[in-house]
Amino acid sequence: MMMKRTCITGTGSYLPEKILTNADLEKMVDTSDEWITTRTGIRERRIAAEGEHTSDLATEAARRALTMAGVAPEELDLIIVATVTGDFSWPATACLVQHNLQAKRAFAFDISAACSGFLYGLSIADSYLRAGTAKKVLLIGAEVFSRIVDWKDRGTCILFGDGAGAAVLETGGEDRGLLSCHLHTEGGCWPLLYQMGQGSRNPADGGGCEPSNPFVQMQGNEVFKVAVRSLCEAGEEALVANKMAAADVDLLIPHQANRRILEATAKRLGIPPERVVVNVDRVGNTSAASIPIALDEAHRSGRVKQGDVLLLNAFGGGFTWGAVLLRW
Ligand code: UT7
Repeated sequence: MMMKRTCITGTGSYLPEKILTNADLEKMVDTSDEWITTRTGIRERRIAAEGEHTSDLATEAARRALTMAGVAPEELDLIIVATVTGDFSWPATACLVQHNLQAKRAFAFDISAACSGFLYGLSIADSYLRAGTAKKVLLIGAEVFSRIVDWKDRGTCILFGDGAGAAVLETGGEDRGLLSCHLHTEGGCWPLLYQMGQGSRNPADGGGCEPSNPFVQMQGNEVFKVAVRSLCEAGEEALVANKMAAADVDLLIPHQANRRILEATAKRLGIPPERVVVNVDRVGNTSAASIPIALDEAHRSGRVKQGDVLLLNAFGGGFTWGAVLLRW
C-alpha cells in the first residue's frame, strides 16, 4: 500500500506595516547602509506596531492560509506555533491564536526551536497526521524580535525583523507531500545564540545567580561559520535520503538569516541562484517566521508549481538545524 503523505494545502503570511530601513538604523547606532547591505543583504525589515503582538501576527497569517486551503477554523485538530518571542512566557501563543480563530476543536501548543522552529513544526505536524491523531493541522511561525533586541547593539539590531507565516497541513496524495524531515541539535552551543528571558536561571524575584540580560545574545561570526556548514550537511543528507541530486531541486527555500549564508549554502549544494528564494533584503531575519513567509511569497507569486521539489533548510539558536524535502 502506498503511503499517504502530508501536504501543504494553504499558505499565508503577514508583515507589520512599519518599515525600518538601514537609513533609519544609521540614526540609531554606529552603522551604515553600506555595511549592513554588504554583510547581510538586508535593506529593510518590518516592525510590529505598538499593541501588535506575536499572536496578532500569527492569527492574520493563519487566516490567510486557512482561506487558501478552504479550511474553516473549527475543522482544525491541532495548532502549533513556532516562536521564541511569544506574547507571554506562558500560556502558549498557540492558545491565544486558537481563541482568536475560535478554533474550538483544536488543541494547541508552542515549540521553541528558534530559527529552525518551522521545520521542527513540520516534522511534528507530519507525525500527528501520519499517526491519524490529527487530520487538519495549522502550523505557524511568528516572531516579534524587535521586542527582544537591544536597539543599542549594532551587532544584532540590524539583523532581525517581525512577521508571521503559516501553513495548513493535511494528509494528501501518494505522489506528493513531505518526503523527509532531517532535524539536528547541538545543545552545547547554546551560549553562542540565546535570550535569557524569564526562566529558572532568572527568577522573578531577581535573586538569580547569573547576571540578568533581557536581550538577544549572539556571537554572530561563530554562528555564521557553523550555520553554513550545518545547512549544507542537512541539505545533502535530505538529498541522499531521497536518492536525489541538487539538479532535482526546483526551489531552495532557506531560512533568511543573512544573504551571505544562504548564497554560500546554495553554492556549496550546487543550486543556482535562480532556484533560491530570497526575501531577506525586504524582511530581515524573522527567525521561525522566515521560511513560511518566503514559502507563501513564492507560492502566491506563482514560483511554486505542482510537482516541484522544494528543499527547506534552517539553522538557529540551540543550536538547532535541519532540512525538509517535499514535492508540491
Ligand atoms: O538566524 C540564525 C542565527 N543567526 C545567524 O545566522 C547570524 C549569523 N551571523 C551573521 O549574520 C553575521 O555574523 C553578522 C551580520 C551578525 C555580522 O557580520 P560579520 O561579517 O560576521 O561581522 P563581525 O561580527 O565579524 O564584525 C566585523 C566588524 C567588527 O568590527 P572590528 O572588530 O573588525 O573593528 C564589528 O564591530 O564589523 C563591526 N560591526 C559593525 N559595523 C557596522 C558589527 N556590526 C556592525 C554594524 N555596523 N551593524
